[in-house]
Amino acid sequence: MRRRRKLDHLNLAQLMEDGPLSTGFGDIHFLPNCLPELDFAAVSTASSFLGREVAAPFLINAISGGVAEAEALNRALAAAARRLEIPMAVGSMTAALEEDALKRTFTVVREENPDGFIAANLSANAGPEQALAAIEMIGADALQLHLNAAQEVMMAEGEGELSFGGCWQKIREVVEASPVPVMVKEIGCGIAREEARLLAAAGVAVLDTGGGGGTNFLRIESARRKKGGTEPFFNWGLPAAVSLLEVVDAVAGLEAAGQTAPLVVASGGLRSGLDAAKALAVGASLAGVAGPLVRSYYRGGLKAVLEYLQLWQQQLRQAMFMLGAGEPADLKACPLVVLGETGRWVELRGVNLQSLARRKSALAGTKPKMSKKT
Ligand SMILES: Cc1cc2nc3c(=O)[nH]c(=O)nc-3n(C[C@H](O)[C@H](O)[C@H](O)COP(=O)(O)O)c2cc1C
Repeated sequence: MRRRRKLDHLNLAQLMEDGPLSTGFGDIHFLPNCLPELDFAAVSTASSFLGREVAAPFLINAISGGVAEAEALNRALAAAARRLEIPMAVGSMTAALEEDALKRTFTVVREENPDGFIAANLSANAGPEQALAAIEMIGADALQLHLNAAQEVMMAEGEGELSFGGCWQKIREVVEASPVPVMVKEIGCGIAREEARLLAAAGVAVLDTGGGGGTNFLRIESARRKKGGTEPFFNWGLPAAVSLLEVVDAVAGLEAAGQTAPLVVASGGLRSGLDAAKALAVGASLAGVAGPLVRSYYRGGLKAVLEYLQLWQQQLRQAMFMLGAGEPADLKACPLVVLGETGRWVELRGVNLQSLARRKSALAGTKPKMSKKT
């Protein structure tokens, strides 16, 4: 049953368009900088994440494994991650914990990318024992725990064994037992400020927002179900930009209170290097992507995956150049304006947008004073 589901996910992710929810990244605008004071050659996307150098602040997010067909896909994704020097996560590893023969569909990633940053992946309902086994299986540098209550309640397999009771406590136990940082992610419905705070209190090292507007698992499960009734939920979720702004606001609140705050990964419907630039400017450390990589792979293999991510890197550099940002961290000083539905949404939720709009321009401290001519 699980293998069939994984195959269905790969097939349907190729066929289905993003949305119908809009990510809201179109509502986020940079203030163009006509005086970038920078040479294009000096713009570098190199960055760091959890103490590791990355050549670009991108994450190949969790996709697959646990079904024979995923082995070649995972090999290609790992090869792309190695070539581009970016982190990647594998798909949910539960199947391989239950059946030895499936381990290979995951270990192939470590084989292909021996020194790269690779995150293991399990349900947030997994316990410490499963977590340790998954981390060991691929020598993982981090562990992703996915939250997907909305997807699971729509699954064709039914609601019988569906249980998210005690989930926060399980996350806490896994955080305590894990030898590597724990990242908690949504898979397309987003994380709100309140849950971001709870997850931070559990000691989670990274929050991956996984907001709406990209791959839509409620629609994918609906297609698998082959009977109606799920359509009213197709717009369920926090738009990706809203979720990112909420989570960054929660993190900023913790930092202001002198508490340890998680890093943020932005994901869900990010579809260009410009979206990534906006996400980094809002406060993310990495921009994650999944669905388009599945489509690229089935269209043109490793070459197409590389081309897709290289285009993102080029677009990110172009945006950084236009904004006078020599490195990704400089984007956090670039003023942003949030308009439209996204602006209205976060305004009603009390997210502090003024701090984004009034950020210091990179040149603010160095501008020559105008001499007063008499
Ligand atoms: C075919 C497919 C399978 C996925 N499987 C997993 C999974 O096993 N575990 C997980 O945490 N996320 C999984 N995801 C979710 C992605 O990691 C990501 O959170 C989501 O697709 C939103 O990003 P996107 O809009 O860029 O696709 C999967 C995504 C796709 C497209």
